[in-house]
Amino acid sequence: MAETKVPAHIIVIGNEKGGTGKSTIAMHLAIKLLNEGFSVATMDFDGRQGSLSKYIQNRKNFCADNNLHLGIPEHYVVKPTNDYNRIPEDLNRIHDLILDIKSRYDAIIIDTPGSKNYLFEAAHQYADTLITPMTDSLIDLGAIADIDIANNRIKSPGHYADFVWETKKFLAAHGKNYLNWIVCGNKISATRSRNKEFIFEQLEKIGKTYGFRFCSGLKDRVIYRELFLEGLTVLDMNLSGLNRRMTTSHLAAKIEIKNLAEFICP
Ligand SMILES: Nc1ncnc2c1ncn2[C@@H]1O[C@H](COP(=O)(O)OP(=O)(O)OP(=O)(O)O)[C@@H](O)[C@H]1O
Ligand SMILES: [Mg+2]
Repeated sequence: MAETKVPAHIIVIGNEKGGTGKSTIAMHLAIKLLNEGFSVATMDFDGRQGSLSKYIQNRKNFCADNNLHLGIPEHYVVKPTNDYNRIPEDLNRIHDLILDIKSRYDAIIIDTPGSKNYLFEAAHQYADTLITPMTDSLIDLGAIADIDIANNRIKSPGHYADFVWETKKFLAAHGKNYLNWIVCGNKISATRSRNKEFIFEQLEKIGKTYGFRFCSGLKDRVIYRELFLEGLTVLDMNLSGLNRRMTTSHLAAKIEIKNLAEFICP
């Protein structure tokens, strides 16, 4: 009898805040999972901006130009329709596409835009795991929680935490009672600061109530900005044929990605 494949685990990278590192983390997780032998599909639900799509295309070009065979996920671009009347039809098309991909891969990684639209909302509804990168800035914290800084007190959930709560209710109504939500630091300054400590403390404190686990995540490293053009990740640095010098910063970055990947499946 033919073996039935376990449906893909869907990891959505989302935050209602631009520039926090969603596409960078999506790419790094995809390569990490590929390196571990999983079959991986990536989906760019931010198809209009297309950062993840460009990252993957850059990797394809770099491999072709240098005769290299690096792991590349199977990639799908999803662009929003400009015709409001066609949104239901578009959502049906996306649903069929996800069902098909889900049956063929071990993992699907979905990158989302930094602000809400119907694709952003739909992507979250497919999540088994949701990863929310945020920097150590109080503006980023505002998406998760509204804080009374003077009295060191949390006033209420931020707009994105509210949205995730609504998504959880939607999932529960459709028979899915658990969403593995991880808030993950990114572009975290290397230096000690009261600001950073305050943000980390607040996230540790509210995680249980809001239903996420907090992971200190990735530091601010120039290497992440530089690798995009060649489509490379910190995980590729010591591959033979690349002739890159592995610095201590590369090594530390690689460990951060490994820790994040392990944090997803405790
Ligand atoms: N840990 C990091 N250290 C330094 N730079 C980083 C790090 N993570 C991401 N970046 C850089 O920050 C910028 C924004 O990253 P990215 O495009 O991944 O964010 P995003 O959340 O996907 O943005 P958008 O909301 O516009 O889609 C890019 O230039 C990227 O190279
Ligand atoms: Mg992006």
